[in-house]
Amino acid sequence: MNIDYNERIPNNVDLADDRRLLRALERWQPAYLKWWDDMGPVDSSDMDVYLRTAISVESDGWAHFGHVRMPDYRWGIFLTPPEADRKINFGAHKGDPAWQTVPGEYRSELRRLIVTQGDTEPASVEQQRTLGRSCPSLYDLRNLFQVNVEEGRHLWAMVYLLHAYFGRDGREEADEMLHRHAGDPDRPRILQAFNEMTDDWLSFFMFTFFQDRDGKYQLASLAESGFDPLSRTCRFMLTEEAHHMFVGESGIMRVVQRSAELMREHDTADIRAHGGIDLDTIQKFMNFHYSICLDLFGQEKSTNAANYYSMGLKGRFQETRIDDDHVLEDAVFMAPELRDGGVVMAETPALTATNERLRQEYAKDSQRGVNRFNKVLAHYGIGRELTLPHEAFNRAIGAFRGTHVTPDGQIVDAETWARRRGEWLPSDADYAFVKSLMTPVVAPGRMANWIAPPKRGIHGQPVDFDYVRFH
Ligand SMILES: [Fe+2]
Ligand SMILES: [Fe+2]
Repeated sequence: MNIDYNERIPNNVDLADDRRLLRALERWQPAYLKWWDDMGPVDSSDMDVYLRTAISVESDGWAHFGHVRMPDYRWGIFLTPPEADRKINFGAHKGDPAWQTVPGEYRSELRRLIVTQGDTEPASVEQQRTLGRSCPSLYDLRNLFQVNVEEGRHLWAMVYLLHAYFGRDGREEADEMLHRHAGDPDRPRILQAFNEMTDDWLSFFMFTFFQDRDGKYQLASLAESGFDPLSRTCRFMLTEEAHHMFVGESGIMRVVQRSAELMREHDTADIRAHGGIDLDTIQKFMNFHYSICLDLFGQEKSTNAANYYSMGLKGRFQETRIDDDHVLEDAVFMAPELRDGGVVMAETPALTATNERLRQEYAKDSQRGVNRFNKVLAHYGIGRELTLPHEAFNRAIGAFRGTHVTPDGQIVDAETWARRRGEWLPSDADYAFVKSLMTPVVAPGRMANWIAPPKRGIHGQPVDFDYVRFH
């Protein structure tokens, strides 16, 4: 199923056959482009960037690679092809045919799920908008822009659903997506982790490692939805998300590698004087991003999450591969809670624990990445490892909110927390140091001193390819 790029809005949803929808989206498009111009990557409008563009939704060879002038990127609407006779696979409607229109009784819940997901997409573009000015290489600049254009496309994906299936209030929600802004005191983005600015590249790699991975898990559970258009949209978004996490994981890996090299070369852990990012700082950034991402999954015990599940709107990660009844009326799940001054695992109804279950999958996946960073450290003979902080560390949502817990899980009083916080989370001085390293490197193949080159280039191109051309 190829995508027709002669249309104003490239799509594989037969937009041309639905004039009303087409007109509504064509009205939204200029507002989107204006938003991209105002709030998207700074100074990028004259750059030609080696980008991939979706040309089909088949798993093999969906992408075309070539230099594109940034504002000319073709944002479009792509859903994976429908699965014949797809059923609702969980909850109270298990076994019924999947919905092709919005189930009226769940309309507002479904809309809220789509709006919450959709809001994160333009938010991340806004958060990352100044990074291009301090890129560590052309390769990295290209990857940043690839992530940015695809997050823009993910907004299109959610806006399509709002326009196509929710009528007037859907269109209003689509407009609001462009009116809220990351960090705006009056009209902030919905989720707190999407209001922090990402203005150094260590934060960017952490963001694409941790926040985009949250995105993967949210999309994966929405891909299970009984509302078929949402499922099909999320399935295609997941193929793009994989690259975002690659950017994060390989980015952190290259920083860790360079730090290890400098530690060996100068025989010290204190490599700041040599222009590297010390492992203490990397660890603090990791503690920060991981803990705020755990909050993104919501309360450990959540009746909203239970409702979304029972309604058939949002499933568990890889729902159909789980060996149980997929209704969960009597099932239990182990979730952490505070008890007698400590964190214990306790049985809780599985239905209300679906957030927690998803978070535990996320934690395992994050740990797999951290293990790979530690292999790099071991390879260089560095006798130290990076670790994910305890799940109760620095939490603002759920059972641990308001409790001060160290990265290794000790509960401490407020005074100790205040005194030692700077050992665990990046201080203003840490941010200032990292920022001091952020000077742009734009000669093809050259890298900033604080990061190792990638093992290979993009789509078979050499590392010193001119991934971005300036005019
Ligand atoms: Fe996204
Ligand atoms: Fe992403």
